[in-house]
Amino acid sequence: TVIHRTDYREPDWLVPDVALDFALDPAATRIRATLSVTRNGEHDRPLRLDGDGLVAIAVRVDGVELAGDQWHMERDALVVPLAGPTHVVETEVEIAPERNTKLMGLYASGGLLCTQCEAEGFRRITFFPDRPDVLSRYVVRMEADKARFPILLANGDRTAEGDGADGRHWAEWRDPFPKPSYLFALVAGDLAANRDRFTTMSGRDVDLAIWVRAEDLPKTEHAMAALKTSMAWDETVYGREYDLGQFNIVAVADFNFGAMENKSLNIFNSRYILADPDTATDADYDAVAGVVAHEYFHNWSGNRVTCRDWFQLSLKEGFTVFRDQQFSADQGSAAVKRIEDVRMLRAAQFPEDGGPLAHPIRPDSYLEISNFYTATVYNKGAEVIRMLHTLLGPERFRAGSDLYFDRHDGEAATCEDFVRAMEDGGGIDLTRFRLWYQQAGTPRVKAVLAWDEAAARATLSLEQTVPTTPGQPVKQPMPLPLRVALYGSVSNAALGGERLVVLDAAQGSETFEGIAERPVLSINRGFSAPVVVETNRTAADLAFLSAHDEDPFARYEAMQQLMIDTLVGAVSTGGADHGPVIEAVRETLVNPALDRAFSAEAVLLPSEAFLGDQMLVVDPDAIFAAREALRRDLGAAMQSEWRHAYDGARTNRFEYSPAAKGARRLRTVALGYLAAAGAPDAAALAFRQFGEADNMTDRQGALGVLANGTAAERDTALAAFYDRYRSNPLVLDKWFSTQALSARDDTVDAVAALYRHPDFTLGNPNRVRALFGAFSANQRAFHSPDGRGYTLLADMLLALDPMNPQTAAKLVPPLGRWRRFGQARAALMKAELTRIVATPGLSKDVFEQVSKSLAG
Ligand code: ARG
Ligand code: ZN
Repeated sequence: TVIHRTDYREPDWLVPDVALDFALDPAATRIRATLSVTRNGEHDRPLRLDGDGLVAIAVRVDGVELAGDQWHMERDALVVPLAGPTHVVETEVEIAPERNTKLMGLYASGGLLCTQCEAEGFRRITFFPDRPDVLSRYVVRMEADKARFPILLANGDRTAEGDGADGRHWAEWRDPFPKPSYLFALVAGDLAANRDRFTTMSGRDVDLAIWVRAEDLPKTEHAMAALKTSMAWDETVYGREYDLGQFNIVAVADFNFGAMENKSLNIFNSRYILADPDTATDADYDAVAGVVAHEYFHNWSGNRVTCRDWFQLSLKEGFTVFRDQQFSADQGSAAVKRIEDVRMLRAAQFPEDGGPLAHPIRPDSYLEISNFYTATVYNKGAEVIRMLHTLLGPERFRAGSDLYFDRHDGEAATCEDFVRAMEDGGGIDLTRFRLWYQQAGTPRVKAVLAWDEAAARATLSLEQTVPTTPGQPVKQPMPLPLRVALYGSVSNAALGGERLVVLDAAQGSETFEGIAERPVLSINRGFSAPVVVETNRTAADLAFLSAHDEDPFARYEAMQQLMIDTLVGAVSTGGADHGPVIEAVRETLVNPALDRAFSAEAVLLPSEAFLGDQMLVVDPDAIFAAREALRRDLGAAMQSEWRHAYDGARTNRFEYSPAAKGARRLRTVALGYLAAAGAPDAAALAFRQFGEADNMTDRQGALGVLANGTAAERDTALAAFYDRYRSNPLVLDKWFSTQALSARDDTVDAVAALYRHPDFTLGNPNRVRALFGAFSANQRAFHSPDGRGYTLLADMLLALDPMNPQTAAKLVPPLGRWRRFGQARAALMKAELTRIVATPGLSKDVFEQVSKSLAG
């Protein structure tokens, strides 16, 4: 059944206190839950407790066991009529964590027992009103075999522990903060801790611990440093302080998502905790810090103030992503971070916004809420918060966020509450801005700059359209904050300062007086609005901006646009003048004033997928060919510059610093161009880098280049990598994804073989994503004209769905883009979707994604 946002009703019953008693065992865990319930208002509706696959062994009300006719099941929910306004309700259930392959609720991972409850996993553990607006104080008692599960963790602070009979032991944890059930967590296992301490701004001492398998302890230093930096950052930038005496993080190998912000007991996918130079790339290090910060920041934006219902998910996720982006920007190069964030938005969110699964950041309906943990809710949600920050400026934004936290602390709030706090605290009218929460689709802006030489006046004409999306045929213009500047094409200098132009109607214009030389337009600087901008700028204008714009993002963007125009032209006409791109890239590469991290980003060609998004009908083979031709020419025309960059970016011992990261990044980019040019020594350079590397960034960078090389080069490098890292699952994931991303012609065969590889398993979401997430992102291989890529993905989805529907559903969207391709491919993709949807027993998760993809 489809759930609608406007159907929200307050809960009939509240549960101020819960006591949970776990007798833990992987095969059979007993859970006794004691709920103090109070009626919410005057009504005679029964108490309804959500369940998912649970069987009640016993139900007691106020200490008296109920007979079988005093309660009943409605689908999976347990319904108990209650006479008065307050009662104590007890239930008992038994579950088998080791058979829980969905990884929702209580499950086993690598010998541990752990939980994942968001969004609706708690109902797989015990009967409960499993909705985020029911806030309860939890007391958790857990008991387990002491030898197998020496460490017992739950939310809050440990208040008691002891030994039991038969080699068992127990612990009791209390969390004083009322919280929704999705923030409940428990972990039991044989874990070792990296311990540290943080003193908050008001002087509270907090014991920090990161729990991992003992052999992984040396890989937790970076995460611990990031945690402490995050705690201090949130105090300084948002005035938010930690509120308990303990903060625990646990890393688990099998996890559907990145991590989870359970109150004081964050549980992480191990890939976002474990890092050392030999096994983690710089991107991995950055991701660890970003996710640690994200989950920590949720303690305020998510936990202290939570969501009223799941339609409000972006209230916590959009805001928290924005906060983690700000944090990461503050730790290194803000410009490069912004480029990465926008690249991610364009790769994941723009296609979603333009396809059959488009939805507003605050969706209106869902069948399965797990399907709405999307790039739209998270990343576009963060862009919406960023626009508020741009409109208000940092001080007034902070006043708004202070008011929000103050007003709603301890509550389950809505997106509307957030916007109102920003209005009241920031002193701004956001009436029209609310459209950003309602309308799906990426707005398109047409910007035309005209110059009246005689009047020394420039006029910028702006026009916006918001495309129709499924269920939203009519759109209103939205307020778009566009940071704009003009540059003099003769003086090379900025003509006046930057302006913030807010286009809040279908059309608008902005005039600039005293413009005595031909101006060049720099617009949407810093990517101030998440829109597509079309301009009348020439290749020469773009090349000019790529060399002179003072806003690093705008500079990067100008280069990208120049590359896009060149490549789109090449695809439609079969050839193109590569000269302007080569000159612009050369100018960037040899500019000593630019830091290497920025240069490396700027000289990279846009992805095949993003190029496809610029075209009416995507032709992956033509895009690949055009892009490779430009890569080859760029490589060949600038061989000595690439070589110079490669040698100049050599680093000594591994160091995780912005400068060293930039050097490593540029080095592998340069190596890639040398290989693309067919430089005779490129493979030798790559093998040397591969063999001599003292860090995974250089080693994986070289592996990626060699995986595109000859069969012998590829096989040698991959075999060496496999031998070295076969026992490390996170690094083996890289071995899988590197092959799935290869530009070689035989990649579909390689992926088919890897699907049967003994190290491949559907049981581990990271492994599934490493192979199939990467493969479906590899445009030419996945869209192999014979349709084998589609069949391979569909076969895997059908095998995975019965085990782990959440992870399966996440891999449907690449097939759902069938409308964007030519007839032959579209038919093949549609046939696979049709085959999937016709399969009996399909999960809600996959059914929703596939049926919408066929219909929308
Ligand atoms: N709240 C978590 C985070 O973003 C993600 C939880 C994902 N849950 C899910 N069912 N998809 O930090
Ligand atoms: Zn989050």
